[in-house]
Amino acid sequence: MTSTITQPVPMHYLIVTYGCQMNSNDSEIMAGILSQLGYMETDDETEADVIIINTCVVRGGAEDRALGRLENIMPLRKKKPHLTVIVAGCLAQKDGETLLKSLPQVDIILGTRDLFDLAQLLERHLHTGERIAATASINQPVFLGAKGPVIRKSGLKGMVTIMYGCNNFCSYCIVPTTRGRETSRPLQEILDEAKMLADKGYREIQLLGQNVNSYRYEGTHFPELLSAVSNIQGIERIRFITSHPKDLSDELINAMATLPKVCESIHLPAQAGNDRVLKSMNRHYTSEHYRSLVKKLREAMPDVVITTDLIVGFPGETTEKFEDTLQLARDVKWDSAFMFMYSPRPGTRSADTMPETVSIDEKKARLNKLIELQESMSAEQNRRWIGRKLELLVENTSRKRDNELIGRTRGDLSVVFAAPKEMIGKIVTVEITESFAHTLRGKLIAEIEAK
Ligand code: SAH
Ligand code: SF4
Ligand code: F3S
Repeated sequence: MTSTITQPVPMHYLIVTYGCQMNSNDSEIMAGILSQLGYMETDDETEADVIIINTCVVRGGAEDRALGRLENIMPLRKKKPHLTVIVAGCLAQKDGETLLKSLPQVDIILGTRDLFDLAQLLERHLHTGERIAATASINQPVFLGAKGPVIRKSGLKGMVTIMYGCNNFCSYCIVPTTRGRETSRPLQEILDEAKMLADKGYREIQLLGQNVNSYRYEGTHFPELLSAVSNIQGIERIRFITSHPKDLSDELINAMATLPKVCESIHLPAQAGNDRVLKSMNRHYTSEHYRSLVKKLREAMPDVVITTDLIVGFPGETTEKFEDTLQLARDVKWDSAFMFMYSPRPGTRSADTMPETVSIDEKKARLNKLIELQESMSAEQNRRWIGRKLELLVENTSRKRDNELIGRTRGDLSVVFAAPKEMIGKIVTVEITESFAHTLRGKLIAEIEAK
């Protein structure tokens, strides 16, 4: 007797991610939740049954990009009535219910701490057809941690969120509103996740938080956390992002210098070089203090790679004050920098109380000037590696040539070198032969045995 078994049609999800590593890690968590529900990933939006747009609103441009992407979903929605569209991330948190009203193509608004309830919310929507805005968890004091498997994009480098939210309220920044109050994740939860990654063959861990230096859980501070993660066998490199200059302690510098697995690389946003501007940004340090931190870092680790974020055109930034940012760039010589034009975000102190004083054309001119200077600083800094032998974690093939691979140094600089694909995932030594502003080129010397 023959029988026909009807196979259930697999359901698919597509997640589009904007913004910072926090959002990338949140997307990995949401992917994990959907996979537990039986959904498979797709990169074809016409095949997707659930589309999640994980949004960023840090600057006006980021918000416009997210809204533009949601616009594009309209026609898709018309063709596929059962499609579920979810807005997650910082736009969802910021605008909640209002967004649900203004965007008829959206079914669920998922706040930055409500994402752990994705399974229940999706089920409720699918059963009742109800459109839901879930953003209330932002007010919960404790972050309960991710449940279930996280689907990571990389099999080599794993992001682990160690804290949620931010208490710093830099006057220009919307993040404290969209991510809520600062909450450190329990130490054991972090160690368990890192250990699980090590067991799966991950070699690098990146610890994430808006201000990792203020990590505190039952008496454990960030340097101790680094030391605890260092004890996990199999993990060979540990990185972290982001550090706030006001909280970068001598203990942390010492931990970086003495723990062999902690990489000599730090992202230390300066934002500006003028003390008056820094004060109205509510940053709680002076440019002198910033310079002293850089000095200490370089004394403790001569090979340290220091990167930064800079904003031009903040209210009250005159040409002379902007000159101080240029001078800081010349003095510090960051290895690289992310540079932005000030963008007023409604709801922040600067947008609400400090009228803009720099025209858009002037902001553009300052940004170009700063970029030009920083490019030459980056190029100068990168020349210091020529002739040096550096350790690389090989990540991928080069985008330009098939027979070339790309790896990252401990300082997180990318190096292109010729080697067979089998080297991907290995730790190797290369000798640097050429340098540019954004990359290095090297030749393979040896493969290093796993520790
Ligand atoms: N917690 C991190 C990252 C915050 S957002 C930190 O404190 O550094 C990343 C960067 O975006 C910031 O460092 C800042 O340079 C930039 N940024 C934030 N708000 C901005 C705004 N309103 N306009 C322009 N740049 C902004
Ligand atoms: Fe924003 Fe400042 Fe917090 Fe960074 S430290 S997220 S710039 S408020
Ligand atoms: Fe953007 Fe939110 Fe990160 S506003 S930078 S995605 S915390």
